[in-house]
Amino acid sequence: MINREELVKRALDAREKAYSPYSDFCVGAALLCDDGEIFEGANIENCSFGATNCAERTAIFSAVYAGKRSFRAIAIVGGSRGEEVNEYCPPCGICRQVLAEFCSADAEIILFDGKNIKVRKMIEMLPEVFDGANL
Ligand code: THU
Repeated sequence: MINREELVKRALDAREKAYSPYSDFCVGAALLCDDGEIFEGANIENCSFGATNCAERTAIFSAVYAGKRSFRAIAIVGGSRGEEVNEYCPPCGICRQVLAEFCSADAEIILFDGKNIKVRKMIEMLPEVFDGANL
């Protein structure tokens, strides 16, 4: 059973660590691995804007570097610095593709708008995915 509230809380904690002086938009992510371990991430911006790393990929890359290869869920929260989260923050296209590398079709993408939790499956977020089978 996935504890969605706990994952959202961990994502909110992670959001505090965002380095986003250019957009002032702070994103946090909490990634649940198959073995139950959770990895957090926040967005890390760069003055060369294209070098920015999203919160989701920060979490995914630390988990993969720690030896994890399969994820059950990710919670994502985002919003302007200094404000409470008040809108859903869906993952960008690059992060969807990176998630799909390590998530099965039914892995959960958990979004939070400050009040409600919305859950989507990986397959809904990125249908007809390009994956290893296409190579
Ligand atoms: N951002 C994320 O961290 N995750 C997403 O999926 C969407 C966008 C970050 C990147 C950038 O630092 C800021 O939000 C504004 O785009």
